[in-house]
Formats: sequence, structure tokens, C-alpha cells
Amino acid sequence: MRDLVQVNLPGREYDIHIGPGLLAGAGDLITPLLSQPRVTVITDDNVGALHLEGLRAGLASAGIKMQSLTLPAGEGTKNWANLTTCVEWLLDQKVERRDVVIAFGGGVIGDLVGFAASILRRGVRFVQIPTSLLAQVDSSVGGKTGINTRHGKNLVGAFHQPALVLADIDVLGTMTPRDFLAGCGEVVKYGLLGDAEFFEWLEVNGPKMAAGDVAARVHAVRRSVQMKAEIVMRDETEQGDRALLNLGHTFCHALEAATGYSDRLLHGEGVAIGCALALELSSRMGLCSQEDPSRLRAFLRDMGMKTDLRDIEGDLPDADALLELMGQDKKVLDGQLRFILTRAIGDSFVTSDVPRTAVLDVLQDALAL
Ligand code: GLY
Repeated sequence: MRDLVQVNLPGREYDIHIGPGLLAGAGDLITPLLSQPRVTVITDDNVGALHLEGLRAGLASAGIKMQSLTLPAGEGTKNWANLTTCVEWLLDQKVERRDVVIAFGGGVIGDLVGFAASILRRGVRFVQIPTSLLAQVDSSVGGKTGINTRHGKNLVGAFHQPALVLADIDVLGTMTPRDFLAGCGEVVKYGLLGDAEFFEWLEVNGPKMAAGDVAARVHAVRRSVQMKAEIVMRDETEQGDRALLNLGHTFCHALEAATGYSDRLLHGEGVAIGCALALELSSRMGLCSQEDPSRLRAFLRDMGMKTDLRDIEGDLPDADALLELMGQDKKVLDGQLRFILTRAIGDSFVTSDVPRTAVLDVLQDALAL
């Protein structure tokens, strides 16, 4: 049931292994990267409590010694202070250019540790062992690393590709149902942006996947990762096609800002709602059929995922204020909002040619639902 996806960026090729039992097999998979049998691992306290000893055993079975640093879980960890903590700790461990650092956690740990690895001794290799669905299908692949500052999320960082990614499907079994379903927001995004057949597969198999079916989870992660890898190979630094990966994100970022980046809305939940709004906007602009947004919303509801603005607890700002928040997104280019819209499920494109009134109409109607 194991799968392999390769990212063939010239000079920075790497493998992504997907399947159950990868923590136990981590030592054998990592050994070819090592010049000496030791690694440093940075994790968070949630993942550490559940899985650090499993990883230690998997590495020890190949004779690899591991030193670990555990940081607090949560988005707040992705800051300057913890970047310093990581870098100083890695230097305390005498990590050299030829050593390998392991980022063991969700998107926060992957981004923070990847960034620390990118600047330590002007760049050391790092391995991503993503432990959340969202990190397995999105943030661990493609080399975006970074931290948040008081000016916003992910504003400081670097492109630094991992040397290896191990997506252990068993680890997803310890996620809360809410976190898992939030990750499904990023999974469905891939079907919508470029693969109608994958969307159809999700309509049939999504509930089974959410219920824990390992084969379905392997398939969903593999197809998502394969699509992400293809896009990253075409456009590593987001000069063009990589922006497709932001389907749903212009709406999502405004909703995350409106909810104070709090537990009211997880990132993947915002992506799912954002995709529904992006399809609605596409349909109203006459770009895709009217059935497409309804079909997506029916799927999201069937999965038990957040679908509409009314699924977000508490009050939201009005449509004008949400549009204003979209304007503060870092993906705004020359003051113009960029949207990813669809011609059909599985056929998306990037455009800045969207009338402000069309966005306002969609938001007003969504708020009134
Ligand atoms: N998460 C979007 C990207 O990696 O480009």
C-alpha cells in the first residue's frame, strides 16, 4: 500500500514516500542521506507526546541516534523567537552542513524548521515528516518555509526544498476528526483545480477516507501530492501556475483575518469555504455551470465539512469589510486582487480580471444564507 512520488527539480530532486508504517521504517529511508548516523529532530508537544518515541525506535532500528527539541504546538510558535530557539539549539547540537534536520509535525513545525534549516550554516538539508493531513498534502511539499511576523502570516521565509518527505498514513489516525476534515479542504482543492476524476473519486470515497480507510487515505494523499509536485516542478517560485494552489485562499485569508486566526476557523476549513465561494463567483461570472458550486457544496456537506459562512461560529464583518480584508492579503499584486476561478470542476485559472461588484454580491448573498 506504499506509494512514491518524485519531485524532479534539477539538482534538488527528492522522494515523497506515502503509506502506513513509515515512522518504523524511517531509519532505512533516511540512512542514504546521512554522513554520520545521527539526526536532530524538532517537533511540537502534541506530536512529540504521541509519536516521538515511535520515530526514535524507527531511527534506532537503523542505528541512527536522535536528539530532539520539543516546541509548544500552535500557530503562535511560528515566530522570530522560536526561529532563534531552533537555530541556536541546532548549533548547540553541532549540526554541520552535511547533517540532516528533521521537521516532525504539522505545517507550523514544517515551515519553521524548514526555514531554520535554510539559514543554518547557509543551508542544511532537512527531512519533512508531516503528521497532519494538511501538511502531508500541501505544506510539506514544494519548499515554502517561513514564519509569521506582526505584519502578517508567512511574510518572512525562503524556498528551501526538503531532501525527503515521509507521509506516514498511520499517524493521521491520531488527528481529531475536526483537524482531519479541515485537511480535506486542501485535498478537494486539488480535484477542483486540475482533476475532475479525482473530485469524482472523492465524491464516492471521501466519507470512507474520513472514516479511516487506509487505502483511501493513501490514494488521496498520493494524488494530491502528485498534483502539487507537478505544479511545483513547473513553477517552483510562484511566477505563474503555482498560484493555482491558492484556489479558495483569497476568500480564506479574509475569513481567517476576520476570525482573528483563531479556533473559530481552521485554515483548511477556510479553504473549503473559500473554494465554494470561488466556484460561486465563477458561476455568477458565467465561467462555469451553475451546477458546479452546488455539487461542491453537496460534497462538503456530505463529508461533514464546513461549507458556508454560517458554519463559522460568531459574527462576521459585512461584505465590504471582508473585501477590504482580501485587499490586505499578501497575494495582492499591484493593488489588484488575484482570484483562482474555474471553467469547470477540474479546470482552474488565475485572473485579476474580477469586478469588485461581483465579489461583493457573492459575499453579501453568502452572509445572508
Ligand atoms: N501552499 C501553497 C504552495 O505551496 O504554493
